Amino acid sequence: MRQLIAGNWKMNGTSASLAEIEAVCEMVAGDPPNCDVLICPPATLIAQAAWKAKGRIAIGGQNCRAEISGAFTGDISAEMLKDAGASAVIVGHSERRQYHGETDAIVGQKAKAAWRAGLTAIVCIGESEQQRLNGHALHTCGNQINESVPDGMTAAATVIAYEPIWAIGTGRTPTNGEIAEVHDHIRACLTKRFGSEGQKARILYGGSLKPSNAAEILRLSNVGGGLIGGASLKASDFGAILKASSRNP
Ligand code: 13P
Repeated sequence: MRQLIAGNWKMNGTSASLAEIEAVCEMVAGDPPNCDVLICPPATLIAQAAWKAKGRIAIGGQNCRAEISGAFTGDISAEMLKDAGASAVIVGHSERRQYHGETDAIVGQKAKAAWRAGLTAIVCIGESEQQRLNGHALHTCGNQINESVPDGMTAAATVIAYEPIWAIGTGRTPTNGEIAEVHDHIRACLTKRFGSEGQKARILYGGSLKPSNAAEILRLSNVGGGLIGGASLKASDFGAILKASSRNP
């Protein structure tokens, strides 16, 4: 399975940061990695980023609203992201769940909106530190898969991102064994519900993924790539992670 290395810039970046996208594109064009490459900049930069990328890498959004259009001040639809040049959108990131009250049901609606617009939905799940300490990590992730991935999922239009909340931006990661355990469990949940589509869907790991740990994490069982925050902001770090992915089968 070809891995997907995706950068989530979160609320970082102005037009000056497009130089990082250009640098990643040049790296990819000069030494094509053996993985798919996606950068999700803030919405304000999507059109310019897509124009700069010229198809050398994919550009995505970080969120969308489920409706196509309407009186929803400040919101952006999946169709608008597509129109701006995005080919994917992250839905249900834990920061959206935490700061915007997004429930599994809302995340599911957003995933369907992404499909409707012809975007790949990157559906994020992951346990809190308390849930892990209580021994509930697998149960939490299984529930989130069941509740936030809609019926009719296809592997071509859907990517799952496992991001333990306590590993995001903290420099801490689960052990390799813990990552593989959760990814195997997610695979089992997807396969049970969606059959062969569930078997094929890529499952990304996210949470303090960086050049120094990328190679070991990206070679774990059922890890189909990475979703990278901090280390995606600099082309040199992101490029090192692309290379780590390429070295993996
Ligand atoms: P960090 O890589 O900064 O931990 O963020 C991970 C993340 O939330 C990506 O969506």
